[in-house]
Formats: sequence, C-alpha cells, structure tokens
Amino acid sequence: MTVKILIVGFGNVGQGLAELLVEKERMLREKYKTDVQVVGIVTRHWGAIVDEHGLALSRVLASVLAGKGFAHSGYDLQSQTTAELIENLDYDVLIELTITDLNNGEPATQYIRLALERGRSVITTNKGPIALHLKELETLAKTHHAVLKYEGTVMSGTPVLNLIEHNLAGLEIRKIEGIVNGSSNYILTRMEEGLEYDDAVKEARELGYLEADASADLDGWDAVAKVMILAGVAFGVTLKVDEVQRRGIAGLTRREVEDALGQNKVWRQVVELERGEQEGCLRAAKAGLRLLGNGHPLAQIKGAGNGLVIYTDVMPLITVSGPGAGRRETGYAVLNDLLSICTEQC
Ligand code: HSE
Repeated sequence: MTVKILIVGFGNVGQGLAELLVEKERMLREKYKTDVQVVGIVTRHWGAIVDEHGLALSRVLASVLAGKGFAHSGYDLQSQTTAELIENLDYDVLIELTITDLNNGEPATQYIRLALERGRSVITTNKGPIALHLKELETLAKTHHAVLKYEGTVMSGTPVLNLIEHNLAGLEIRKIEGIVNGSSNYILTRMEEGLEYDDAVKEARELGYLEADASADLDGWDAVAKVMILAGVAFGVTLKVDEVQRRGIAGLTRREVEDALGQNKVWRQVVELERGEQEGCLRAAKAGLRLLGNGHPLAQIKGAGNGLVIYTDVMPLITVSGPGAGRRETGYAVLNDLLSICTEQC
C-alpha cells in the first residue's frame, strides 16, 4: 500500500524522519508492505516543494544538509501558502513538525484542524496543540474519520503515550512521576559533576538541547506542557496552564546540588500527576523540583535522559526510561505513529 505524506516543518525532527524513511525504505516495503511517498515539504525559511509521485528524499536531504535549503533539490519552489497546500494537495497523512508555541499552539493547531477537516490523519510532535487543544482535535478527528497521533510530544521515540493508551489498557493508573525535560536533567547532572549553573546551561545550549526559548526548559514550561498532555492521555483530564504547579531549575545553586549529594540525594525536575477522588479531576498536577533519594527510580536518570514511573492498581509500578529528545529519536516517534496509522487504517 502507498501512503502519501505532507511534511510541514523541516528542522531537526523532519530531517531525522526523512533520514529514517530513506534508511528503512526497504524494510517498510518488505515487512510492513508500505511505500511511503513524501509528496510535499513545507518550511518557513526555504519555501515549499512538491511532487505528487514522491520527492527524491536523499536529494532533498543532501541539499538541506549542505546548507542550501531546497535550492539544490532539483524542485521548483511552490507559490501556495502552507494552509493552501494542506487544503489542496493530495496526501493521506499530514506530518506537522513546526515550532512549539505553548501560549496558543499556533500556527500548528490551525494546520492540524485544516487537515482533520479534510478527513486526513495527522501526526505531530508539537506540544502546543496537544497540551492546549487535545480534546477538540480528537473530536474533530473522530468526526471526520481521521486519526490524530502525537507520541513524539512526550519522551520523543521512547514509547510512553502509546504504552499508556494501548499496552496499559484495562489498568487504573493512580499516579505518574517522571523526568520529561532532558535539558534540565542534563544541566543538573553536569552540576553534580562540578559545573556552575551558567556553565552547564551554556553547554546544554551548545549541544542543541535547549529550546529556542530557553525559558521553556529552565523555567519548567516545557514540563508543564508535558503534564497537560499526560493528564489528557492517562486521566482524560483537560488542564489549563495555570492549574499545573511549576518550578524550573533556574536559581538552583551548585552548593544546593552538592549538599544534596552529601545526603545521598539528587535534585531532579519531576512531574507528578495523581488521580483524584472524582472522575475527571486530579489530586496533583506538578512540574517541580524535588530532592530524590538514591533509591528512587528517577534518581538514576542521568544526562539528557527521560524516565516515567507509572503506578497502577494491578501492576504496582512500571518504569520506562530512554531518550527524551533528538532528531532521529523524535523522527522515530513519527515513523512509529505512521506505521500504526497504516496498520490500523490503510
Ligand atoms: N527541550 C525539550 C527537552 C525537548 O529538553 O526535553 C524535547 O521535548
């Protein structure tokens, strides 16, 4: 079967996805009987290219990685806007990978709505629309017989949302604790190794871990968005930003980090969600700073890693850990979502 995709946003994640589609083309065809054709790529900086028979991805990637945008891709730039392409192009799945805006989720939410209203399925790694508008978008998807997938919004390709939705079906989730912001965990780990806060932040920035607006990571906003997404998926609860308690790592001193180590403890930025007495409400929704004893499963998460501990009625404690960011890791989340759409729907 052939699945035609339109990619909006071609930064790190889009390029990581394209690399995986090239590398795994044969496997996708032989094992999953799926021929993925990228019929369009739309970007803010380089414009848009389309080919209804599928773009030559290797050539497009080579042009982009050489710093030439689409200039050496062999394709003419399109004059249509992003919205026009989403509304008019012939594709099966929109892959929405634009930059996260946690204030209003735009322009991504509008792009997602346009595709769903056409009955096209959507995969996104964008935290804004999912944190702020999950219920509305899921209803829209259902109304138009389309599918909305967003595994990459929390812990990149490490399976968490699909795990909760599918593999833990039938369990009552009572509580979730997690480290879901890789860059703050990296900074804390480097401070444990002796770096001052500012130097650790600088290093995280140089390694490309921090969001364009570093406050998202350092002041805890990114973790808040992930709490909102987890609340929707695990507990069916819609939270507003100001309903999540927040404290980021900004302001923590090396002295405090060293004092904790002296007591066999570590500072971690931990998200916490706890089921409330009544359906549809939570007893706790936090993205805060916590001192963890060395025995806590999350105390072992080092560097840019992420981890989630899920407490349920039957399986007391399930721990998942793995990468929480990265071009190929998040690209893989998209590929996994695409395969599940193809096996469920196509
Ligand atoms: N800035 C985020 C982090 C990227 O550090 O975890 C992944 O959402």
